[in-house]
Amino acid sequence: MNREQPLSHKKVRAFQPEKLSAPRDFFIPEVVQNTATKDDSDKLPLILEIGAGKGKHALSFAAVHPKKHLIAIERTRNKFEAFTKLFNQQLLDNLTPIHADAIAWTVHAIPPDSLASIYLLYPNPEQHNPNQQWLNMPFFEFLLSRLQVGGEVILATNIESYMDNAEQQALSIWQLPNRRHKVPSDNQRTHFEVKYLARGETCWQLTMTKPEGYKTRFDNWFAEEDSVNDKK
Ligand SMILES: C[S@@+](CC[C@H](N)C(=O)[O-])C[C@H]1O[C@@H](n2cnc3c(N)ncnc32)[C@H](O)[C@@H]1O
Repeated sequence: MNREQPLSHKKVRAFQPEKLSAPRDFFIPEVVQNTATKDDSDKLPLILEIGAGKGKHALSFAAVHPKKHLIAIERTRNKFEAFTKLFNQQLLDNLTPIHADAIAWTVHAIPPDSLASIYLLYPNPEQHNPNQQWLNMPFFEFLLSRLQVGGEVILATNIESYMDNAEQQALSIWQLPNRRHKVPSDNQRTHFEVKYLARGETCWQLTMTKPEGYKTRFDNWFAEEDSVNDKK
């Protein structure tokens, strides 16, 4: 009898990764290919940052963590150009900047169970459109499938209603252990963080952890294999 393990979350609407084409000029960076092929001893933990802006957090994170590899994605061209200008001056070999939509790019590039952590720093969608909040999106389930057990999703925002909703969704829908705290007022990780804290606003962070045995619909789904299977 086929007794499938039940899903670990309560999200009813399923993401449909097979409907997303690869971004223009798509390639899988060598560091991601290595996660599948190299010995564990050679691998650096892989970190993903979505919406990296001009790369302030990405550049300092990579400089401070030489034993981790960060992939930082930004879709807005002028921000990405500012990011790569600074990146070219520093040449950090543990940082890969990517100019793409993070949803399509992640679907095509990142294998399941491969990320040690995921940063979503000040995503600030249009406030009246809650569908754009990361934890409201069916894509969040796909993102969780790419995370390793014990891995963390780190979300920061200055919008209290975003944080309240994220905390509630993390608990009641995604069933993820999490902790919420205020960002210290002297933090300077990103341009937006600097701006909000300088204005005297409160910023919050929610850190969610993927528990052992967590099951999603995408744990065995990978775009490369899917396209190979389609051709069979
Ligand atoms: C408010 S800015 C914050 C930038 C930076 N994290 C900071 O805190 O300074 C949000 C950024 O996320 C980017 N972004 C939003 N959705 C994205 C997606 N699906 N893929 C890639 N970048 C995205 C936007 O282009 C924008 O630069």
